[in-house]
Amino acid sequence: MLASAPVGNRRAQPPAVSAIPLRIMDVFEITGGARLCGEVRATGAKNSVLKLMAAALLATGVTTLREVPDILDVTYMAELLRRLGCLVERDIPARTLTIDVPEVPSHQADYDLVRKLRASINVLGPLLARCGEAHVALPGGDNIGSRGLDMHIDGLERLGATVRSEHGFLIATRSARLTGAHVWLDFPSVGATENLLMASVLAEGITVIDNAAREPEIVDICTMLQSMGAQIDGVGSSTLTITGVEVLNPTDHTTVPDRLVAGTWAVAAVMTAGDVTIRNAHAAHLAIVLDKLTETGAHIDVLPDGFRVQAEARPRSVDIVTLPYPGFPTDLQPHFIALNSIAEGAAMVTENLFEARFRFVNEMVRLGADVRTDGHHALVRGRESLSGAPVEAADIRAGAGLVLAGLVASGTTTIYEPHHIDRGYEGFLDDLTRCGAAVIRRSVSDQD
Ligand code: EPU
Repeated sequence: MLASAPVGNRRAQPPAVSAIPLRIMDVFEITGGARLCGEVRATGAKNSVLKLMAAALLATGVTTLREVPDILDVTYMAELLRRLGCLVERDIPARTLTIDVPEVPSHQADYDLVRKLRASINVLGPLLARCGEAHVALPGGDNIGSRGLDMHIDGLERLGATVRSEHGFLIATRSARLTGAHVWLDFPSVGATENLLMASVLAEGITVIDNAAREPEIVDICTMLQSMGAQIDGVGSSTLTITGVEVLNPTDHTTVPDRLVAGTWAVAAVMTAGDVTIRNAHAAHLAIVLDKLTETGAHIDVLPDGFRVQAEARPRSVDIVTLPYPGFPTDLQPHFIALNSIAEGAAMVTENLFEARFRFVNEMVRLGADVRTDGHHALVRGRESLSGAPVEAADIRAGAGLVLAGLVASGTTTIYEPHHIDRGYEGFLDDLTRCGAAVIRRSVSDQD
């Protein structure tokens, strides 16, 4: 017979396992000290392909994109396009993506995707031009700062759109075809230039975008739009003149190589006194970055399809000031803080684009770096070595900067939240391993 259970004033039994659920997560674990040597190939640019995918919305039918990187942001953007009614197929080994756009796409981009991918704001311009309205959830801030949309909105209003914010959505409408206008951007914003380009190619008459961004990714989208039948003059300059056309055709376009991936490898080679050849890269897109690396003492050979970076000794420190292209890219600023933290001498790093990018400095300090920030300046005093520690990646580029620091730190550096790094760097760990680094991805629980 079973004993009857005691009743009444029962004392609660302690749970057999902890009441706090275990969270299993990936980390990157790097044992520093290897000299990187070998050859890598840059993928197509993340910051271009996402916009090219949005640009496909401008024409009914099948657009093919090539050199599409295998990164999570492409998966999110593909999902967004599917929700807008497109049929999206991806051949990852072949690096191609086809987007079959219906005659009338849907016009709503919801928060669940927009919050994962800020670049989804780029569907605003093409949806407005194609559908007459666009409802795009407001992306909000992110880990690198507040990131306004005022220039996107002002520019679209100049073209005749009405834009309002309601229930967390940015709602843009037009009662007739958009009309060409002269738009002066307060700042050469990449996102605003792209949205205005995509809205104006189907507008009536001539649009001039002055103080436009000139990044290689802007040239890439202009080239794709031209191949769809758009008329754009001044490509690569800060004044873009667009003569609107009535319809555009689908196209087949190859994404420009990722200058930030190529630049990351170049800095890695210098920091580890290595010898790395980067293929599928345009040295001209990294002119100021490669010039700074030469100042550190590295040797750079430009090749027909890329460049080779060789370094033999501890780098010399270099000052940098981030600015819109062709200035020094903000997306390589954390990499140069990492480089300067082990360089000979002291350097001043000035960040002019994203106020919160220096948050990453706290993680560098955990690795033993001597960095002090004051507003948008960081003074980095080089040390002979860093020492491995657990650190957290707050965004893609901060994560890449920490990988570089981990490569030269003594002992083990564990990088938490490496999914940020995966967003921008396809097969990063495999390539690092092939070049001699001791780096693994492993799963840990938050009670390890
Ligand atoms: N800004 C405004 N108002 C606007 C637009 C921009 O105030 O209407 C401000 C932003 O807040 C920011 C600055 O202007 O301070 C630059 O913004 P921009 O529009 O040029 O940048 P973005 O389009 O939001 C893209 C890249 C970023 C890269 C910047 C600058 C993509 C998806 N993102 O952002 O890349 O840092 O240009 O080159 O293309 C990354 O890849 O890690 C990344 C953050």
